[in-house]
Amino acid sequence: MIDILHVSKSFGPVAALHDVSLHVGRGERVAFVGANGSGKTTLLRAMLGLLRIDGRVTLSGVEIAKDPVLALRSVAYIPQIAPPIDASVREVVRTCAALRRGHAGATHVRAARLGLDLDAVGSKRFRDLSGGMRQKLLAAIALAAEAPILVCDEPTANLDAAARAAFFAEVDSRPEGSVLVLCSHRVEEVSQLVDRVVELSDGRVVRDGSPAATAAPGAPPHGDASSASRHLRVV
Ligand SMILES: Nc1ncnc2c1ncn2[C@@H]1O[C@H](COP(=O)(O)OP(=O)(O)O)[C@@H](O)[C@H]1O
Ligand SMILES: [Mg+2]
Repeated sequence: MIDILHVSKSFGPVAALHDVSLHVGRGERVAFVGANGSGKTTLLRAMLGLLRIDGRVTLSGVEIAKDPVLALRSVAYIPQIAPPIDASVREVVRTCAALRRGHAGATHVRAARLGLDLDAVGSKRFRDLSGGMRQKLLAAIALAAEAPILVCDEPTANLDAAARAAFFAEVDSRPEGSVLVLCSHRVEEVSQLVDRVVELSDGRVVRDGSPAATAAPGAPPHGDASSASRHLRVV
């Protein structure tokens, strides 16, 4: 589903990614982890064609640099930092649904499951929502798209425990074969949600394996990866 081939990226003198190659197959749930500044967001943005890079990325067999519109048709993205949109929540929801040829109602349902009542905040400016509300809304929009590939950048950073558990349950209930790629600096949290952890350090992949192999010292074992047990650990 996702092929990252020899991707490097520098911002002026800062080398953010060094020759990163990864394959993510159908049904995989992958977390990119690593310290702040290790290159996680840059790698996600490179995957989505949001940056000019050296190397190549293909999504569902389509090279992102050649046909971004087609390549991104299979992707929904929750960014780390919400764009400062002046439009109302209602307009943002409607526009995003229309772009996906979907219905705003689907976003309302997803938002409610995450603890956000869109009817109550519909007339507010998107940028005036609290950090947690914005993150719930962005997650609801992305989940409502029902895309085969869901890409999330620190999706639970601003969420309270209940919303985090609800978000994990939503991700868990996506159809079989769906791909999840997320990044987080909290390996112990996301290891409950994924079956593969890729660790970055200074823009290089330094580890790629099961969550158990990358868990922080003292973290519980993850031998039983059933959905129910994942939830129990999250709640
Ligand atoms: N737009 C940018 N301009 C300049 N430097 C950037 C930019 N984006 C990221 N960087 C640098 O690239 C490195 C990796 O950043 P990032 O991918 O955001 O890390 P992470 O998401 O792992 O915290 C950091 O040194 C960061 O300062
Ligand atoms: Mg980041």
